[in-house]
Amino acid sequence: MIQLDRRKFIASLGGAAAVSLMTHEARADALEHYLEDRLYAQAEGDIAGGSGAAKFPTAEEVHAAIPSRHYRRGVGGLFVATQPGTNVDFLPEMPAKPTLPDFFANRFMRTSNHCLQSANKAMERGVQEEIVLACLLHDTVQELMKTDHGYWGAQMYAPYVPEITSWAIRYHQALRFFPDEAAGYHYPDLYHRMYGMDYVPPPHIQAAKAFAEKHEWYFAAREVTVSDLYAFDDTAKVSLDPFMDLIGRHFKQPAEGLGYDNSESAHMWRSMINPDAPL
Ligand SMILES: [Fe+2]
Ligand SMILES: [Fe+2]
Repeated sequence: MIQLDRRKFIASLGGAAAVSLMTHEARADALEHYLEDRLYAQAEGDIAGGSGAAKFPTAEEVHAAIPSRHYRRGVGGLFVATQPGTNVDFLPEMPAKPTLPDFFANRFMRTSNHCLQSANKAMERGVQEEIVLACLLHDTVQELMKTDHGYWGAQMYAPYVPEITSWAIRYHQALRFFPDEAAGYHYPDLYHRMYGMDYVPPPHIQAAKAFAEKHEWYFAAREVTVSDLYAFDDTAKVSLDPFMDLIGRHFKQPAEGLGYDNSESAHMWRSMINPDAPL
């Protein structure tokens, strides 16, 4: 069992003031990452190592850690409390006809800060609105399912957004693993930690990358990776407000509410409205 050094953990997040600005979920995720770092540091015999000192694991070590968890890493954020000894909690009620902002407020608690920061960056970079929208939505499906999230996300949003937006969400998943220095995308350290330093993406991801880079919309999926953020920004205060007009212009809100419009992905929205349904 890894002992948590509270002082070191808080320092690794930028100090107590920075931690006080983080949401409960962001703190929980930070703790999970910190403990994973420590786990890998211990596995490598580097007991003194904190975030800074920890070396990256190999892909084999990442695989070997599977039975050390009480959950699988691909599970959606709404469905599991990942910290040992903690339980899931009641979720806020959703309105009868839920909108995208309702999901941001009441269901996207683990992903909204990250996605809003990405969308802010894309807006600052002056990219077209359909791609800002892709950045805003790109990881939100991780509340439902993390594994293969680009594909799940594209499918969930396809009935409601421009085609280029769902295309960019779909292919950002593959392009994350391939640097494009000219576009300003470098391979993130986070993936060395999450997948292992010698990780090789599987054939379907290599094929998706080869397909995407020849496509006329490559720039759109690549922008999602360029505007993605792989580190905590402790000072970021984010809001959906700057994106409400853009959502109004490009997101087709169904009159019946998301989940109840009988679209091909309505069940995915319903699953997030009520993740406590046993079947
Ligand atoms: Fe992503
Ligand atoms: Fe992301």
